[in-house]
Amino acid sequence: MPGDPRPIGVFDSGMGGLTVLRALAARLPGERFVYLGDTARLPYGTKSAETVQAYALQATRLLLDHGVKMLVIACNTASAVALYVLEEAWEKVPVIGVIEPGARAGVATTRNGRIAVIATEGTVKGGAYVRAIKRFKPDTEVVQLPCQVFVALAEEGWINSPATLAASAHYLGPLFQGPAQPDTLVLGCTHFPVLADAIRRTVGSDVALVDSALTTAEAVAEALAAKGLASAPGSEDAGTVRFFATDSPERFARVGAIFLNRAIDPATVELVDLWTF
Ligand code: DGL
Repeated sequence: MPGDPRPIGVFDSGMGGLTVLRALAARLPGERFVYLGDTARLPYGTKSAETVQAYALQATRLLLDHGVKMLVIACNTASAVALYVLEEAWEKVPVIGVIEPGARAGVATTRNGRIAVIATEGTVKGGAYVRAIKRFKPDTEVVQLPCQVFVALAEEGWINSPATLAASAHYLGPLFQGPAQPDTLVLGCTHFPVLADAIRRTVGSDVALVDSALTTAEAVAEALAAKGLASAPGSEDAGTVRFFATDSPERFARVGAIFLNRAIDPATVELVDLWTF
């Protein structure tokens, strides 16, 4: 089989989606990627659904222009409020968001039927995780918590700082105590996997953390195989990433390194204007 050499398009409001890219690159080493971070308009998590939908449409058009074979909406907020409005993309390529894989993994993981989801304000308000989890298993108890401050802490690289531990205790401490506490916590924001250690210190070792970046990578691998879109093994430019940002390539590279867990050369980050799309 010749394989499909076209890249996979990955889109996020900024750098946080690089946690998803990192998981994708590890799971699919034979693929190429185009990553777009809408750094000029970050954060999406505090914006209205209508605004995020308009931004996501523009980002999608740019990635389709670059000939992607699949679109990964690596932003929880955009997946929560905009996935269904990307009909234009759905007609051309498969589109995968992060909510459904995270919800499915949460349901597969819980033993006591109680799941907590932490996310941005926008994701929580839209209720997409609750709907997705209940679609898989209607009698699941789902508690959502907006943890907006985690976004800033992760971008500062304050992975295990006292401020991060205090924020974690503040947000999660009241929920994770007593016999009725959830046994599963879905990290429903691109930024949160890098704070997993601090979160773990609050919730304890008995609570399972579901990283929606890892579960999304698995869903993408399945979709590529099912649709015959996987690239042929051993191609020369396998694993390459073309980075686009809508503002400040320097900041994208500096902060992005926290989420990608490797250095990014700012000179390789191309500046794009989404308003024209
Ligand atoms: N990427 C966003 C998300 O996963 C977090 C950052 C933002 O608010 O834009 O929800």
